[in-house]
Parts: sequence; C-alpha cells; structure tokens
Amino acid sequence: METELKNLKGQALREISKVEDEEALELFRVKYLGRKGKLPLIIRSISKLSPRQRPRAGKLANEFKHLLEKKIAALKNELEERARRERIAQQEVDVTLPGADFHLGRKHPLTLTLEEIIDIFRGLGFKLESGPEVETEYYNFDALNMPAEHPARDMQDTLYLIGGALLRTHTSPVQIRVMEKMPPPIRMICAGKAFRADTADASHSPMFHQLEGLMVDRRISLANLKGVLSVFIHRFFGPKTRIRFRPSFFPFTEPSAEVDISCVVCGGKGCRLCSRSGWLEILGAGMVDPAVFSAVGYDSRKYTGFAFGMGIERIAMLKYGIDDIRLFFDNDLRFLNQF
Ligand code: PHE
Repeated sequence: METELKNLKGQALREISKVEDEEALELFRVKYLGRKGKLPLIIRSISKLSPRQRPRAGKLANEFKHLLEKKIAALKNELEERARRERIAQQEVDVTLPGADFHLGRKHPLTLTLEEIIDIFRGLGFKLESGPEVETEYYNFDALNMPAEHPARDMQDTLYLIGGALLRTHTSPVQIRVMEKMPPPIRMICAGKAFRADTADASHSPMFHQLEGLMVDRRISLANLKGVLSVFIHRFFGPKTRIRFRPSFFPFTEPSAEVDISCVVCGGKGCRLCSRSGWLEILGAGMVDPAVFSAVGYDSRKYTGFAFGMGIERIAMLKYGIDDIRLFFDNDLRFLNQF
C-alpha cells in the first residue's frame, strides 16, 4: 500500500507539472480525486488492511490528498491569473500610437458670406423671410410688373417646369409673398437660390444665390435706401469704401439704380478687376414701383418703399478675391479648406 501510494504520488506530481490550462487541470483532478479517481480507490481499500497497518496508510493517504488539493488550488489560481492577463493584453490600448484622424467640417464660403450679410441687416431691424425656389410666373414676373411680353423677361430666361411652374430667376418674388401676407410696415430680407438659363463660365452659373431686401412704410425715400446700403457696405467692405448710385432700370422699381463700390483691389485707381474704371457693381436697387404695390393691394398714395437685390457669389468673390464662380460649386477641398 505504501509503495503504491508513493508511486501514485510520483506519477501525479509529474503529471501536474505538465498541466497547461484549466481544462487539463480539471481532468487531472477528476483522475486523482474524483469519486472514481485513483486516490479514493486506494482510500477505500485501506479498510481491507490489517488494523495495525491501517492508521499509517490512512495518514499517508490523507497527506497525499491534502497535498494534491493544495497543488490543484494553487495551479488553478495561477492559470486563472494567466488567462486574465492574456485577455487584458489583447484589449490593451497603446497610448503612444497616433490618434485616429478626426475631420471637422467647415462652413462653405457662400454660407459664411451670407451669414455675415444677414447679421448686418438683422442689426438694422430687417427680419429674415423665405420663399420657394419653384415659383409661378405670376410671382416671379407678372406681380413684379413684368408682363408676358416684357423684354426684361429675356434677360432672366429660366427653366420652365411641367404645369407652368418655373425656377425663380431672382429672390424678388419673396417681396410679393411677404407683402401679400401682411400690411406695412415691412422691413425684411430673404436669401436663397436663383436660377437662369446661363452657360457656366468664370462669372456665370445657372444656379446662384441672392439676397433681397425690402422696406415699406410711410415716407420711405431714396435717402433711407442710401442710408441702409451705406451702413451695410461700410460694415461689410470696410469704412473707407466709396459708394456710387448709377441710374438703371428694373420693372419693379422706379427710380432704379445700380450700386457700385470703389474697387476692393485698387481702391479706385483702376486695375484689371474693375476694368480700369475704379468701380465695381455689387447690387441692384430702387424705390418700389407703384404697379407692384397695386399687385399686393397696398395704397401707393400712403406708402412708399425701397428694394434691393445682390448676388452672394459676386459679393463673396470680391470679399475673398475669388476669380471664378465655378470654384464655389466644384466641391474641391483644396479650395473649400481655405475658409
Ligand atoms: N431682382 C433683381 C435682379 O435679380 C435685383 C433687384 C432687386 C433690383 C430688388 C431692384 C430691386 O437683377
């Protein structure tokens, strides 16, 4: 019995030294200590020994059992710890690696320009309104004193849609929509897309943006128009900018003017940008034509008003020194990332 135990101990210790994982350890435990295991088998056979041999055999068997239990528990701990470390190692983040690139978008130069312009007019009490890009002939032309055969329609040829709708050629129809909605006083601006049947080149795009302004009240005069536009121009282009009102024509304003500013490049001396004139045209404006007031049911003996409209692309090009309108719509990040 004693030699049997000694052999079994030697075998068990050799075997456990080769156990590499928890699964193998469990197999080992069952093999030696399990209900049908090798050690319980020996312990059960102790009862067959002579009473003289029993105590010593029992003691040796018990010591062996405790030894195995201790070794198994220790190894189990060690294996668990090792597995835990391996799991952590797999998840570990190397904080010295460069971080993942994070791309933050930025505003389009037209958005930046528009926001700046809107901000200035808001400060002057103008409320931001909006209107549809798909318009009717009535709002885009007729109500603005441009009847069907009017030659001014030629300059604003556009895309007609099924059912007589069209893509608005300017933001002026929003004037009509706002005046239909409420009586004077009106002090509004609106901004958005406009469309014309133009072929794209350095200064034309079939889709572009405009900002419209309208002020209607008792005793509004050209002086108010000039005052409001001067504040805008001086805030936007700088206080030294000179302003010129040049007589012009629009069917929906009378009198009408085109507004020029001293050249942003040469300051008025004459250069390539201003075609040696020293001046740059930036917007159209005028006093609201009485025919427009009658289209919306305003009494033109009681009320007068002014309106103006500017192209956002043109303003942005002058402000940032951009020489081709197509750059705004190419989506070239080398251009867009500069703003
Ligand atoms: N709607 C005109 C255009 O697109 C601009 C304008 C607006 C002129 C308001 C006068 C008054 O050319």
